[in-house]
Amino acid sequence: MRNINRDTITDAVVRSFAGIEDERSRLLISRLVTHLHAYARDVHLTPDEWRFAIDFLYRTGRKSDAGRNEFILASDVLGLSSLVDMLETGAGSTERSALGPFHAPDSPALAVGGDLARGNDGEKLLVRGRVLDPTGKPVAGAKLDYWQAAANGLYWQQDAAQDQNNLRCTMAADESGHYAFTTVRPAPYEVPCDGPVGELLRAAKRHAWRPAHLHFIVSAPSYRPLTTELFFADDEHLDADAVFGVREALVVPVKSSTAESDAARYRLPEPFSLVEFDFRLERGERKIGA
Ligand code: BEZ
Ligand code: FE
Repeated sequence: MRNINRDTITDAVVRSFAGIEDERSRLLISRLVTHLHAYARDVHLTPDEWRFAIDFLYRTGRKSDAGRNEFILASDVLGLSSLVDMLETGAGSTERSALGPFHAPDSPALAVGGDLARGNDGEKLLVRGRVLDPTGKPVAGAKLDYWQAAANGLYWQQDAAQDQNNLRCTMAADESGHYAFTTVRPAPYEVPCDGPVGELLRAAKRHAWRPAHLHFIVSAPSYRPLTTELFFADDEHLDADAVFGVREALVVPVKSSTAESDAARYRLPEPFSLVEFDFRLERGERKIGA
């Protein structure tokens, strides 16, 4: 160790982690060391620059609390969260997209066909579709966990005027995999910019807008849980999502429907706005963190 130098340090550090018993954890840490060292060499990182980076990370931690994780936001604007989602999307399954910071556990149950719009202003929207397996068969026992921003672009956590159960629910799809609910159309919004991540965006002259979207976690026994989002085809921010969450296959048209039976059943004005999307789940077990 005494003769360690710039040519031998990376291997020495990797070897120092050889005692990690779990093979995958050992790989993750040793490759992290290798890539961090390669980065420092590549850009010839100076002590001042590294101190600046450490201070950025420190302030990112200081900005975080139980209701806000600035590290997740950093990962999002760096495109790392999206890359991890893309790497995890299996063939035949709906593409994964951002969880974001506003998912809350224990949303109230809503029956198929129920109304989430209650008391919210905005354009009424019928959202419906099915939960299918990769061969197109309905998935029995599928559950949806759903949340969205209101028509003012704010989630209940950001808006004292909203009840804490506003615009979120869990729904058990019916035996043919159908889900349906009425809601209001959410607005685009800006990710929080009052912390270190905001500084980074401003330094890059990047904006903080996300196109409007609907968040879902779709799950079922023996299938991998799917965290994803749906976007509206007419949204002006589709091609410049601050967190790189948009995928072509997740962009849905907002149709105008005059189907009288739906208008009557869901008490909607005619014509009404309609979004339809079928989720496809892949077989497998829940993985750590999935
Ligand atoms: C969201 O979709 O709610 C979100 C995602 C990433 C960063 C901030 C917000
Ligand atoms: Fe969101």
